Amino acid sequence: METPTLFICLYFICLSVFGLSTAADTCSSGQSMKDGESLVSSDQSFELGFFSPGNSKNRYIGIWYKISPGRVVWVANRENPLTDSHGVLAFGHDGDLVLFNQSNSVIWSSNFSRVLKNPVAQLLDTGNLVLRENYSLNSDEYSWQSFDHPSDTQLPGMKLGWDLKIGLERHLTSWKSMDDPSPGDYIYRLNIQGLPQFELISLGSGKKYRTGTWDGIQFSAVPMVLHALTKLVFFNGDDEKFFSYEAIKSEYSASIFTLNHSGIIQFYTASKRSNAWNLAYSPNDPCDSYSTCGANGICRSSRASICNCLKGFVPKSPEEWNPLNWSGGCTRRIPINCPKEDGFLKLAKVKIPDLLEFWLNESMSLEECQAECLKNCSCTAYANSDVSGGGSGCILWFGNLIDIKEYEEDNYGQTLHIRLPISELDVHHNSFKKKGMVIGIMMSAIAAFSVSAMVYCHRIRNCRIKSKGRKIKEEDADLPLFDLATMVNATDGFSENNLIGAGGFGPVYKGNLSTGQEVAVKRLSRNSGQGLEEFKNETILIAKLQHRNLVGLLGCCMEREEKILVYEYMQNKSLDYFIFDHERCLLLDWEKRFDIIIGIARGLLYLHHDSKLQVIHRDLKASNILLDDSLKPRISDFGLARIFSGDEKEVKTRRIIGTYGYMSPEYAFEGKFSVKSDIFSFGVLLLEIVSGKRNRGFCHPSHQHNLLGHAWLLWSANRATELTDGCLYDLVEPQVQRCIHIGLLCVQKFANDRPAMCSIVPMLGNESASLPRPKQPGFFMERSSMDSSAILTHEELHSINAVSMTSLDGR
Ligand SMILES: *[C@@H]1O[C@H](CO)[C@@H](O)[C@H](O)[C@H]1NC(C)=O
Ligand SMILES: *[C@@H]1O[C@H](CO)[C@@H](O)[C@H](O)[C@H]1NC(C)=O
Ligand SMILES: *[C@@H]1O[C@H](CO)[C@@H](O)[C@H](O)[C@H]1NC(C)=O
Ligand SMILES: *[C@@H]1O[C@H](CO)[C@@H](O)[C@H](O)[C@H]1NC(C)=O
Ligand SMILES: *[C@@H]1O[C@H](CO)[C@@H](O)[C@H](O)[C@H]1NC(C)=O
Ligand SMILES: *[C@@H]1O[C@H](CO)[C@@H](O)[C@H](O)[C@H]1NC(C)=O
Ligand SMILES: *[C@@H]1O[C@H](CO)[C@@H](O)[C@H](O)[C@H]1NC(C)=O
Repeated sequence: METPTLFICLYFICLSVFGLSTAADTCSSGQSMKDGESLVSSDQSFELGFFSPGNSKNRYIGIWYKISPGRVVWVANRENPLTDSHGVLAFGHDGDLVLFNQSNSVIWSSNFSRVLKNPVAQLLDTGNLVLRENYSLNSDEYSWQSFDHPSDTQLPGMKLGWDLKIGLERHLTSWKSMDDPSPGDYIYRLNIQGLPQFELISLGSGKKYRTGTWDGIQFSAVPMVLHALTKLVFFNGDDEKFFSYEAIKSEYSASIFTLNHSGIIQFYTASKRSNAWNLAYSPNDPCDSYSTCGANGICRSSRASICNCLKGFVPKSPEEWNPLNWSGGCTRRIPINCPKEDGFLKLAKVKIPDLLEFWLNESMSLEECQAECLKNCSCTAYANSDVSGGGSGCILWFGNLIDIKEYEEDNYGQTLHIRLPISELDVHHNSFKKKGMVIGIMMSAIAAFSVSAMVYCHRIRNCRIKSKGRKIKEEDADLPLFDLATMVNATDGFSENNLIGAGGFGPVYKGNLSTGQEVAVKRLSRNSGQGLEEFKNETILIAKLQHRNLVGLLGCCMEREEKILVYEYMQNKSLDYFIFDHERCLLLDWEKRFDIIIGIARGLLYLHHDSKLQVIHRDLKASNILLDDSLKPRISDFGLARIFSGDEKEVKTRRIIGTYGYMSPEYAFEGKFSVKSDIFSFGVLLLEIVSGKRNRGFCHPSHQHNLLGHAWLLWSANRATELTDGCLYDLVEPQVQRCIHIGLLCVQKFANDRPAMCSIVPMLGNESASLPRPKQPGFFMERSSMDSSAILTHEELHSINAVSMTSLDGR
């Protein structure tokens, strides 16, 4: 540009002119600054000088905290480095601050339009390098200031945002690398389209992060820690919109808000004592990443799987669904009814969707806003634009909703109203309204037939296992093989909203097939311990078992490491949900409980004797007894079940899996299991149903026995009916006594003493049949000494041949 020779005569060295040992903060026309010299702000906090970043040999002019020369907060000649240490900073003829190289070429210039007669450059105590006329030394009218041209760092007092009057935008641009301060790939800027919000933009891949829109009070994603460490200022005027912060100097000596070269926003403070920088804040919540959950997804960082589809939405491409990559997003399950009536789902405490296609009116009320949204069929959501003072203004979204995050803490986020067809809202509504809170969420009944009509039926080739030793032999079993996409669709991408339980080997979801059929989807966790073997085992096993007291398997799915079983959906949850709850227990009167006992017994009889194979369930317990719409019991969860060949009576395993409280002694101690270990579990279940108490964790104030021991003590004292649940008001005493008696027969210590299912079923049904006297139950023990005020007398206790035994129960 200019001919540098004109100014060469003006070069002076600031320091030499002032002749001070400490650096000055001001340089006036006629003075200059060579490499090695510096300006220092009057309070000694900032320094301006030449530096080389990282391992680079290039020289740059920069500003840094004097205590920390390694962390440069502003760079003048970012794009145009000096290659040697002969650079000079001086004034140009019209008052510009200019950096010359050795051959007097202009390397960098402040380049403002006004001409200064008597220019002065000063490094202020804020770290701002300013240029102005000498006579106005104390005014803050600057011709130029470094704060208007940020590099990658915002200092306290510096504004990020827009001055609309002069068309100036101040934003951060990352360095290219540690060695190169030239503008890198990331920009952090205030977007003022609609509502203001800060956005971190990657030049290569678009938005990476946004603070959320200014809601009149805050940016939702600006965390408490920043509020605590600084005084945050957001000015939202017509001419000027900017964000700035003030340091709370009593807490730390220095602070910076910076965009590092890998595109991460960070807030650092330097502690007063050591002057070392500590990272006080950086967004590290996965939900802060832009659009983590894709279109119409919602991100909740507190959940194990952070992404879900919004209610009423399902994964868009179930075929490509991947729990770790939601970029595919979600789409409506049912289209909106527009122009007929739709409803709105209220989502509180969310970072509202990004403003991509939107409409804003800052004077409308929320009611007008909703009406406005209903007028336009492409409107998908609405919200207040300003939440201060009870809320005002209207913002409408059209099309997909992108980047919604739900906050857990109060005082974050705002309320969003998402448009849904009335039917989608009703499902939610009815389930709570009709059935009330006692039974909880109940679903409509299912039709457990015509399975093959609804999905592509395949031969269950995948689910066959190799015939090996005692393992199940492959037989022809036709079972639909669902594809993963169907499963993802049915469960809204295994949404937590659909979670209905956690089986032994993984979560169970309620699913809706596209036919409208409701199913229970058991998704085996990868690290469940249930290997392919057990999976196939369960699948083939139940596929072949058909009984009205067993849960029907509708199909399975094995794809992309997922192992999924699809069962009939049982609307009334499981037995434990009722009998162990002091309110819900009222819903199961004695008549129903007796029916349930009979049903379980029949189901077991089928497993043990009547089906083609002899099946040992191995994990019979209250939570595995599901109840259908008429509260009929269905035995479920065959993950541990084993088939016995004709002549086998007992098998030993080294891998003891099951549930404490239901395991027979011989299985718990020696790994031996047989039909008699199921009988033991059945006995425990019987006593639990009658008493409404769990065997595991049972405690009685006057002795140390578990439920079985307690039952036996009472029975031995002819007080068996005292065992019954306080919930039961319709006791049929002979039936109850019989059930306790049979329960005690089933839990006898020695397997051989326990009756088989084929004799238990008649025992339950025939009130006149006489029953053998039970012997001591398994795990019977008496830890407390006999002086305790036991429920039994001294004599009664003595009449019981108590043998001490280590108990596995109640662990
Ligand atoms: C700037 O003004 C001060 C007094 O305000 C004066 O001492 C100084 O000489 C002036 N510098 C120049 C370069 O005019
Ligand atoms: C000074 O800068 C000019 C233009 O960038 C360049 O051509 C010249 O070689 C540089 N001189 C020195 C000594 O680096
Ligand atoms: C100064 O600014 C003008 C326009 O504002 C531009 O054309 C010119 O290249 C700039 N010069 C320098 C050295 O940055
Ligand atoms: C940028 O900041 C993040 C978060 O603090 C950090 O993990 C990353 O290493 C930083 N990158 C560089 C290049 O310093
Ligand atoms: C997620 O999937 C999309 C395409 O489905 C792909 O382009 C993208 O790279 C994936 N992202 C990650 C992090 O794997
Ligand atoms: C905004 O809403 C108010 C109140 O309903 C209305 O008077 C005004 O015309 C609207 N402005 C625009 C631009 O639609
Ligand atoms: C609905 O809103 C969209 C987006 O603002 C607009 O393009 C369209 O014309 C509107 N339709 C009606 C019927 O108002």
